[in-house]
Amino acid sequence: MSDSRVLGKVAYVTGAGQGIGKAIAERLAKDGFAVSCADFNIDAANQVADGINKNGGKAIAVKVDVSDRDQVFNTVKETVEKLGGLDVVVNNAGIGPSTPIEEITPEIYRKVFDINVGGTLWGIQAAVAAFKKLGHGGKIINASSQAGQVGNPDLAVYGGTKFAIRGITQTAARDLAHLGITVNAYCPGIVKTPMMMGIAKEVADAAGKPFEWGLNQFAQNITLKRLSEPEDVAACVSYLAGPDSDYMTGQALIIDGGMVF
Ligand code: NAI
Repeated sequence: MSDSRVLGKVAYVTGAGQGIGKAIAERLAKDGFAVSCADFNIDAANQVADGINKNGGKAIAVKVDVSDRDQVFNTVKETVEKLGGLDVVVNNAGIGPSTPIEEITPEIYRKVFDINVGGTLWGIQAAVAAFKKLGHGGKIINASSQAGQVGNPDLAVYGGTKFAIRGITQTAARDLAHLGITVNAYCPGIVKTPMMMGIAKEVADAAGKPFEWGLNQFAQNITLKRLSEPEDVAACVSYLAGPDSDYMTGQALIIDGGMVF
């Protein structure tokens, strides 16, 4: 059911072609936002936008590589032009390779930091530029992770980016409050997305076990004993994007079924 308080507002969501970003785009559209589905994979983003439009919502798709600052600025500008404004930016796109610490190369390090950390920084900058031009504040929401709260085996680079995103979120919250901009993060646990299914398969393959065994290994470490659906995360992002979280900034909301506490 749409929320009359967000009707007419506009959200830009990166990584909206699949997984958590797709669920966020669909949820925000259901809430009443017009949504810009930004993704490297434009075919996937187009499908998500088409689905939203067919279901009575309003969406466009834009092609972006979030590690490229110019592309992020250009697609945010395109969003404002095509959807008539901008109120929320969700810096969700990210990649998550699992790499033993001794096998990390400069290429892996640079690629993951460029996309996860660079993409978040450029998304924040582009949001601030657009909000200023529009003459109002807004909400910036960044994807951290359970792996940005505690150390996990083989996730030095990925986890490093997700710790960095929490730090950037806290700093940006202090830097941007005077502009009426809030900045928060969300920290999913283990979500059933193509990214996570790939990691579960790697774990199972390494142990010479079936795929379901890999999934069960993950579930054992979760208090609620089940993996997260993308919609579980999208519900929390809906809260962070909506007016009920107006008095919240610099926070990292943990949605992990009880892994970190
Ligand atoms: P996913 O791999 O299923 O989907 C990521 C989407 O981002 C894809 O559509 C892909 O095309 C897009 N993308 C990748 N690189 C891009 C780039 N350079 N520019 C623009 N788009 C790009 O990932 P998933 O699982 O949905 O993750 C989304 C976010 O949530 C990521 O930041 C991830 O680190 C975070 N996260 C995911 C968890 C999980 O269990 N799946 C757990 C904790 C955090």
